[in-house]
Amino acid sequence: MINQATIDEIKSRMDIYEVVNDFVRLKKSGSSYKALSPFTNEKTPSFVVSPSKGIYKCFSSGKGGDSISFLQEVDGLSYIEALKYLAQKYGITIEEDEMPDNFIEEQNLRESLFIILNFAKDYYKNNLHNSDEGKSIGLSYFKERGFSEETIDKFDLGYAFDQWDGLIKSAKENGHNQDFLEQAGLKIVKEEKQYDRFRSRVIFPIHNITGKVIAFGARILKNDKNQPKYINSPETDLYHKSNILYGIFQAKNTIRNEDNCYLVEGYTDVISLHQAGIHNVVASSGTSLTDDQIKLIKRFSDNITVLFDGDKAGLKASMRGIDMILEGGLNVKAVPFPEGEDPDSYSKSLGPEGFKQYLDDNAKDFIAFKASVFIAEGKNDPIKKAESIREIVQSISLIPDPIKRSVYLQECSNLLNIEETVLINELNKLLINKRRDVVKKEERAELVPEAFIQEKDEKTDRSDAIYKQERESIRILLNYGMELIRGSEEQELHLIEYFISESEDLEFETPVYKRIFDLFKEKLIDGVIIDANYLLDSVETELKSVAVDLMTERYELSPQWKDKYKIIVPNEKDVLKNATYTNILRLKLRIVQKLSHENMDKLKASKDEKETNEILMVQRNLKKYEVSIAEILGIVVTSK
Ligand code: CTP
Ligand code: MN
Repeated sequence: MINQATIDEIKSRMDIYEVVNDFVRLKKSGSSYKALSPFTNEKTPSFVVSPSKGIYKCFSSGKGGDSISFLQEVDGLSYIEALKYLAQKYGITIEEDEMPDNFIEEQNLRESLFIILNFAKDYYKNNLHNSDEGKSIGLSYFKERGFSEETIDKFDLGYAFDQWDGLIKSAKENGHNQDFLEQAGLKIVKEEKQYDRFRSRVIFPIHNITGKVIAFGARILKNDKNQPKYINSPETDLYHKSNILYGIFQAKNTIRNEDNCYLVEGYTDVISLHQAGIHNVVASSGTSLTDDQIKLIKRFSDNITVLFDGDKAGLKASMRGIDMILEGGLNVKAVPFPEGEDPDSYSKSLGPEGFKQYLDDNAKDFIAFKASVFIAEGKNDPIKKAESIREIVQSISLIPDPIKRSVYLQECSNLLNIEETVLINELNKLLINKRRDVVKKEERAELVPEAFIQEKDEKTDRSDAIYKQERESIRILLNYGMELIRGSEEQELHLIEYFISESEDLEFETPVYKRIFDLFKEKLIDGVIIDANYLLDSVETELKSVAVDLMTERYELSPQWKDKYKIIVPNEKDVLKNATYTNILRLKLRIVQKLSHENMDKLKASKDEKETNEILMVQRNLKKYEVSIAEILGIVVTSK
């Protein structure tokens, strides 16, 4: 385990701006920073980073926390992994508490999978560089492809022996759990037999955005028609191929700096472009492009340039990719390649300088790209031309921003020499159809019986009221629990002590608030009063996120507002005792009301007279209690 001194040092050094900025593009906004949320598909930024508080808050997904929880959320890291990432970022040496020899951290599954995948990566690398078979087959293949030592190292390339159980054996010798090998997708278990998934192939590790290996791709070297050329890791707890891009770890900083991302088809294209000095390149590898992958790129740039094969399949893939990128609200260009060439082969035949020049000279926006494809197919053929216009307008209709749409329409009109009004008409037809689909969906929603909706609302309203009241209680306690107030016997006591003594019979309903409240009680026995920072320091994301919410919520008027409108924020501290007391009463009132409603429901369902009488008795008592609380609060309760 990482020792406490190291954790403390990491926490004192981590800077929320620096950490988050590695993953999203932050823009200054007053004393904080804003960005598009990396967690949702939003169009206007609601993701806020506050360097002075050391926290982030995403208002569209509700997530929030410190640097550590950000890393956990954004890249699926465990707590320990997040600490290790930060230690590396800030050059802090990790000191671990003494552990028995051969101890392998297995605190949780994800952690264990990261460990075994990293072990496998090192194993394959070692095979490639330090064995005769690896050197003569694997390494010489990479060299033939023109990959330099530096490139091979940068991408952690490796080699799997022509053996059934090379990895299995080595993992065993090093004390690794065999189950994890299977769960990481490295071992195949079939009935009685088990064997390595990757055999006699060169290995391309797939890194997540923080540089951890989460999966592998493997290419065959022999000429064997019965074997697939590439095989990949299956989906695992760590690897979801639809939301990762090959090369993103090596590319992300350059994508941001160049404000453009090249998108290619596979491993070898990514690596060859790197070797040619183009570092802002990723591949969707093995699958067609997904929304999540586009979202991932959008964190670093709004501009994508598609580089796909010059053949028919490549062309089709680029067309589909272009439409998806447009729909995601990004700008897209494409570069055509001669038939039979892909970025990998063409970068080699032109050389680094020539290839860069080719990209600069031939990158076309999607209109010019689509137009050129259709024109190449059938020069001066009016039917082909009409078809190409419809294709282009269809792509334009996908762009969410109306201003951008009209700019592109103009360009299309100039390029294809068509009157703009014709294009506008065509575009409107498409947009109206789309809207009709949306309306249809809404109509369907209206078919749900009204009675059903109402009943449902009433119930959620009631639990909602309790939830809000509980939240308010915790908020007061986190912010003012340590304040000294005068109790009923005129003695001084902490607000939290007062709260607990006044709320003996009170049970919180919302699980997370109940936990925090129990934590309050528990810690108070040790003489510690918990505040928001205590939760922020917790290992658990849920607790952290509550802390952030309650720290950022309410009573946080910006100074400009206060000055401009002369708003006076009532000082909560001055009215603290009162606020706490009323809050407890309100909470009790809500709970009694809910119990009483539930009791009434029972009454309606009851068939037996004895039971009915019992229920009525309970009801009278609940009502009495409700009235007495309400009287103190000054609320009139209608007796039903
Ligand atoms: N690819 C894949 N699965 C396949 C074939 C290809 O995932 N069955 C991906 C790989 O990422 C590969 C890219 O598509 O890097 C390009 O394919 P291809 O050119 O066929 O692979 P290369 O390894 O470049 O083979 P070659 O030397 O024959 O060009
Ligand atoms: Mn190729």
